Amino acid sequence: MKEQKATNITWHEHKVSREEREKLLGQKGVILWFTGLSGSGKSTVANEVSHRLHQMGKLNYILDGDNIRHGLNKDLGFSPEDRAENIRRISEVANLFADAGVITITAFISPYRKDRDFCRSLAGDGRFIEIYVKASLETCEKRDPKGLYKKARAGEIKEFTGISAPYEEPLNPEIILDSDNLSIEEEVEKVLGYLKEKKII
Ligand code: ADX
Repeated sequence: MKEQKATNITWHEHKVSREEREKLLGQKGVILWFTGLSGSGKSTVANEVSHRLHQMGKLNYILDGDNIRHGLNKDLGFSPEDRAENIRRISEVANLFADAGVITITAFISPYRKDRDFCRSLAGDGRFIEIYVKASLETCEKRDPKGLYKKARAGEIKEFTGISAPYEEPLNPEIILDSDNLSIEEEVEKVLGYLKEKKII
């Protein structure tokens, strides 16, 4: 992880606390961290969860892999180092959003355990909810919504997760969505059920 370069900087406490913002919004600022192979359905489920939360009057925001790579992280590729930096920046941004009281939803492959654990450690107790969208490589390859697996198999894309780059499964995720067997609606209900059970919403 990156070292701090700047010296002579001071941390400021602000007048309005996170708790006060959360009280205003009537929710807890948490991070719903979706992880899984490309094509596992992370973005689709994240979008449905976001829509349902919005309908319930819960402020939320999605940070999505392909979108963030068009802007904030447009300078990063898919080497292990670049993926680590991708997730580090997203973790910092997600934590700012969560600190603002927003239910922050992220949808990144985030294939490395240590990178996801970095975000968990930043977020602190109960604020990082790791959601493993578990789909077999076979399923993802069959779906191949962007035609990327085909290209990866043909050697046109290097370091492709699941084919020529690793995916480290979460060891202790808060939620597992069995994407091979559950419908999108069932997955959404599972996530919302967890949030209600933990009194996040
Ligand atoms: S991560 O590994 O750094 O977390 P991220 O979620 O931001 O990845 O981006 C993954 C998306 O980039 C995939 O859904 C796919 O559309 C695209 N992509 C392009 N090249 C690759 C690659 N080599 N490996 C994985 N995804 C890739």
